[in-house]
Amino acid sequence: MRTFLFLGTLRRTLAVGAATVAALTLTAGAALADDPAPPRGVVGGTPAQQGEFPWMVRLSMGCGGALYTKQIVLTAAHCVSGSGPNTSITATAGVADLNSSQAVKVKSTEVIQAPGYNGSGKDWALIKLARPVDLPTLNVADTTAYNEGTFTVAGWGADREGGSQQRYLLKATVPFVDDTACQQAYGNLIPGEEICAGYLDQGGVDTCQGDSGGPMFRRDAAGAWIQVGIVSWGQGCARPHYPGVYTEVSTFASAIKSAAASLSG
Ligand code: ARG
Repeated sequence: MRTFLFLGTLRRTLAVGAATVAALTLTAGAALADDPAPPRGVVGGTPAQQGEFPWMVRLSMGCGGALYTKQIVLTAAHCVSGSGPNTSITATAGVADLNSSQAVKVKSTEVIQAPGYNGSGKDWALIKLARPVDLPTLNVADTTAYNEGTFTVAGWGADREGGSQQRYLLKATVPFVDDTACQQAYGNLIPGEEICAGYLDQGGVDTCQGDSGGPMFRRDAAGAWIQVGIVSWGQGCARPHYPGVYTEVSTFASAIKSAAASLSG
């Protein structure tokens, strides 16, 4: 079963006001003062530096995203409710600390959910912003060449399974898991549309609820960051034998490009 469907619904229910959700989750985090675990997250992550991943975006429905252009955010299809005009989403950009006074906040104007998206596979969407932001963008892999190696993930999602959303951006690195091994774990992988990553035997490091839509990325041959995945789903978070499942960005690079062109006009 794909846990994101349930949590996506839950999040949309809660996301009446993102500020309310943030306040509630931050309060919940503070209330867990007797929890011996230090506040680390993605799961098993460490804080990102301000400016380290300048194209990272937090979306008000409780997802992550990355700047595809200065005015278009690439996120997950399961983070949005469909395609069309949409002014209900606020993107927070330019900060690792969501409460920073330097945060750039821009509303959405339009959404394109992946054509044919039906809840499994094709987990990508574009969100057009009301104005361009003056921040770097993240290149998208358009070949399979980078679908291997070690990846970086980042997000403001839960720092452990069932944990609270984070104020400070967290990052972690996770190794590629091949389709055969990932299919053995899940049975319902869509190998041409999904790419897995995580520590198969140990677990301990993973994305988690609220990281959805955010990028999984690595360095390309020229040393630039390139996006290879979009946080999509997993069984729990950071469990041994259950790697994280990400949208295989290279598969959809041309569809994303043409969708973005249709938004730009
Ligand atoms: N579906 C989750 C979300 O909506 C992301 C889950 C990722 N899970 C994982 N084990 N990597 O935020």
